[in-house]
Amino acid sequence: MRVLITGGLGFIGSNLARRLVNLGHSVTLVDSLTPEYGGNIHNVYDIQDRVAVNIYDIRDSLLLRESLKGVDWVFNLAGQTSHSDSMSNPFTDLDINARAQLSLLEAVRLVNPEAIVVYASTRQLYGKPQYLPVDECHPIRPVDVNGVNKLAGEQFHLLYHDVYGVRACALRLTNTYGPGMRIKDSRQTFLGIWIKRLLTNESIQVFGDGKQLRDFNFVDDVVDALITAAATELSYGRVLNLGGNEVISLAELAHKLTRLRPNSSWETVPFPEERKKIDIGDYYSNYRLANDLLGWCPKVKLEEGLLTTVQYYRQNLSKYL
Ligand SMILES: NC(=O)c1ccc[n+]([C@@H]2O[C@H](COP(=O)([O-])OP(=O)(O)OC[C@H]3O[C@@H](n4cnc5c(N)ncnc54)[C@H](O)[C@@H]3O)[C@@H](O)[C@H]2O)c1
Repeated sequence: MRVLITGGLGFIGSNLARRLVNLGHSVTLVDSLTPEYGGNIHNVYDIQDRVAVNIYDIRDSLLLRESLKGVDWVFNLAGQTSHSDSMSNPFTDLDINARAQLSLLEAVRLVNPEAIVVYASTRQLYGKPQYLPVDECHPIRPVDVNGVNKLAGEQFHLLYHDVYGVRACALRLTNTYGPGMRIKDSRQTFLGIWIKRLLTNESIQVFGDGKQLRDFNFVDDVVDALITAAATELSYGRVLNLGGNEVISLAELAHKLTRLRPNSSWETVPFPEERKKIDIGDYYSNYRLANDLLGWCPKVKLEEGLLTTVQYYRQNLSKYL
């Protein structure tokens, strides 16, 4: 397959690229490498000779149109991922997570309507869960601008399927972690900054009482789901939740992490006011639909995934600070 990955130098995109080139596919990555986002050229250090890399912003619709010509699969992963930044800079989030998604689909419709498009959506758009585990029928009530814009981006994919027959689908990812994630701050996920603090001998800070429940996916499991979704006709036109195989409180998670490094510690601290307003409380997914349609379920245990991740950052820390 000829494959295009938007956001391909980011955390999930680069892991996906590695898997795809190892499977023998021809892979092109598009990424803006905007410093505040998760793109990092080191993410592809081992496959740099086996992928084509185009550095540009997907808000440039003409360049995007050129990249889309002749590709079989598009993994649409480019996005602004910071919830806080979406509140302080809502229009940038709108431009990238909603407007640029629409222009990508317009380009697909015009230059390559045969392409299969898989979009990385998010559990964030459910907002504060009304019941657990959260399935795809759960009401949608985003708690931040990012959630609203990601919802628009996702729904454009479904609309282009329904109206124009584009074979597009969306996976709603839960917290994903693994080698290649941004750790220098909490823009991508709180787990990133936790790992940085763990490795730089600072205490991990857990906001609130640490009792909030979450589920997690190791990135390899998400890569499995993305590729299977592209290859499975049953997924086209649908939204599928991904989810973890363990539910864990943030305090327990911090405790697990500190067990991986001697003399490390964690503490609870009060929620910063701007974070509290957009916190979703407890969340974990029901991913039965992905299991039914794709045969997907997460395989990597949290202990194992955390160990792999911490080992990676021990060896590559300077590239991510
Ligand atoms: N990591 C998670 O836990 C998680 C959870 C839910 C959803 N998602 C979604 O998965 C996708 C990938 O996330 P990730 O965790 O790999 O984040 P990431 O920040 O590492 O990857 C996103 C990539 O997109 C690039 N990008 C951003 N704006 C761009 C633009 N305008 N033009 C070109 N490139 C641009 C960034 O440089 C970055 O490399 C995102 O759309 C995100 O919303 C991730």
